[in-house]
Amino acid sequence: MRKNSLMGSRFVSFLLAFVFVNSVVTSQSYSADAQKGATVAQGLCAACHASDGNSVIPTNPILAGQHSSYIKNQLHYFQVKKGEDKAKRENAVMAGIASTLSDDDIENLSAYYSQQKIIPSFAANIQLAKAGELIYKAGDNSKGIPSCSSCHGPRGLGIPGQFPRISGQHATYTATTLKAYKTGERANNKQMMAISSRLTEGQIEQLAEYLAGLE
Ligand code: HEC
Ligand code: HEC
Repeated sequence: MRKNSLMGSRFVSFLLAFVFVNSVVTSQSYSADAQKGATVAQGLCAACHASDGNSVIPTNPILAGQHSSYIKNQLHYFQVKKGEDKAKRENAVMAGIASTLSDDDIENLSAYYSQQKIIPSFAANIQLAKAGELIYKAGDNSKGIPSCSSCHGPRGLGIPGQFPRISGQHATYTATTLKAYKTGERANNKQMMAISSRLTEGQIEQLAEYLAGLE
């Protein structure tokens, strides 16, 4: 018994040392500064996304409480990178804004918005939302649509670094972006393009309505 627990604690310290060394090696040279992010946000983003990221304009996504890794990726996708002739995520409005941001700005803005508390939108049409809930939870086998909750989670909170938060978002934005994946106008993610291509416009409206009210 005693020998076992000793070995156990040695093993744990070995693991801890390993994790520590590893995190030092892989940590980024720049650590995000949410305070600096707040200043840039106030100047460049607040008019459309609100100063705390709780956009009140339904075509503009709510950024508050979104995972920083997701925000960061999207801001890079909106930029036209060296050697490429177009952005990964083409959007006329965000292209111009993203092109002015440095990598550090992006780190800081992502940290800032991810730390703000979301004031969720709401479902306005309960019939639509109920139909959306069925697809969200069960998918649609006959059309090869997986359940959304299998990746985005039962409450639509996503998983940092993997799947974005999608609950509490404006229905108008969610519907627009799902249609953009469907038509290929938003072409930065193959999984979501394949899934959206199988959704009807009606199902997209239902899902968007459900997600607006999900918390
Ligand atoms: C003129 C209005 C406007 C301004 C200013 C603006 N945005 Fe946006 N933003 C939009 C719109 C509209 C979209 C949705 C684009 C789409 O449908 O692909 C968007 C999308 C985004 C997204 C993607 C969100 C998601 O859920 O995928 C991020 C991140 C974002 N904006 C961050 C910012 C930041 C950071 C700033 C300031 C540096 C900013 N935006 C300034 C209008 C704006
Ligand atoms: C296999 C995993 C997976 C499944 C299943 C899935 N998603 Fe996604 N979803 C993702 C990933 C990954 C992203 C981020 C893609 C990107 O960077 O554009 C995403 C992005 C989204 C976005 C964009 C969020 C934003 O802020 O712009 C919406 C909306 C969305 N998913 C809705 C759904 C719905 C509705 C379903 C079910 C019909 C679904 N997803 C099923 C993985 C998944």
